[in-house]
Amino acid sequence: MSKTNIIKAFFMSSKIRNIALLTSGGDSPGMNACIRAVVRAALYHDLVPYGVYDGLNGLIKNEIKELKYKDVSNILQMGGTILGTARCKEFHEKEFRAKAYENLAAKNIDALIAIGGDGTFMGMSIFSNEFDIPVIGIPGTIDNDINGTEYTIGFDTALNTIINSIDNIRDTAASHHRIFLVEVMGNNSGTLALYAAAASGAREVFMPEKKEDLIEIKEKVKKAIAANRSSIIIVSEGDEIGGAQQLYDYLAEQHLADKIRFSVLGHIQRGGRPTFIDRLNATLFGEKAVVSLLQGRSNIMIGIKEGKVATEDFLLSQEKKSIQNMEYLKLIRKLSVY
Ligand code: F6P
Repeated sequence: MSKTNIIKAFFMSSKIRNIALLTSGGDSPGMNACIRAVVRAALYHDLVPYGVYDGLNGLIKNEIKELKYKDVSNILQMGGTILGTARCKEFHEKEFRAKAYENLAAKNIDALIAIGGDGTFMGMSIFSNEFDIPVIGIPGTIDNDINGTEYTIGFDTALNTIINSIDNIRDTAASHHRIFLVEVMGNNSGTLALYAAAASGAREVFMPEKKEDLIEIKEKVKKAIAANRSSIIIVSEGDEIGGAQQLYDYLAEQHLADKIRFSVLGHIQRGGRPTFIDRLNATLFGEKAVVSLLQGRSNIMIGIKEGKVATEDFLLSQEKKSIQNMEYLKLIRKLSVY
């Protein structure tokens, strides 16, 4: 028997035969690449993959369909998620989780893979313990705010979208010698803001992890205006200032509006074709999730640790993640002192 067949035979001894896959929470570029990898890896290991539509809602509403090889052809390069997604409040209630379990049991589904954020993982962890069903999580969110992994699917594409948008904004900023306040997503995490600022040559970044003094902010902006330069200031949506518009309003009250504009990038950050990094990691994560189920693992998340694909306990993913590479802030400020 060849080595490949020995490995396959080992996995065949697993009790898992039918697996379901869902995407939940905010969509992120690379989710489709991950769906493809899960389906194709499942078929390789003689499992029957099922897709659950519209996140946890689909579990409750029994929107669960078998996925065939061709169902995931030509999706790797697409943004969004072909399965649809949602934020599902009902899953917080045991009654609806029981309904979800009934729907899975009726199709003899033995295990679940959920691509989403920490909220999804919390629900999955409760569900797994309640009904003794193996569950594996795959981190998919542009925010990169899940503890226990250095990276989440979609983070890289969102960053590329942000820096490309800033490049465009710079044309106007430079031509008019203006200061642009650019608001980026990230929920309560400033990771997107910090990384985007470091990679786009922003003059400043304001994020929830670092309290700033409004008077100091005003002085910095005044200095930039006095130098007749164009500057980019990135504001994370979760910052206590309250976003780019609020900061603009404050600066306008200080009679600085003339040289300042703001731009809220919004949902363009969540869409688009995934980058190489997101496609590759999503593919690695999807395959690893299937193999982990076959190895009898449950209640874990697939992630990146020290640059390599690794697994992490669900419980750890529930803890608050501290911002990675906060030292970028010093660098950003060091490079824009004048
Ligand atoms: O979690 C991803 C994210 O895009 C956050 O950055 C943002 O705060 C939130 O989702 C927006 O959610 P919605 O699309 O539901 O308004």
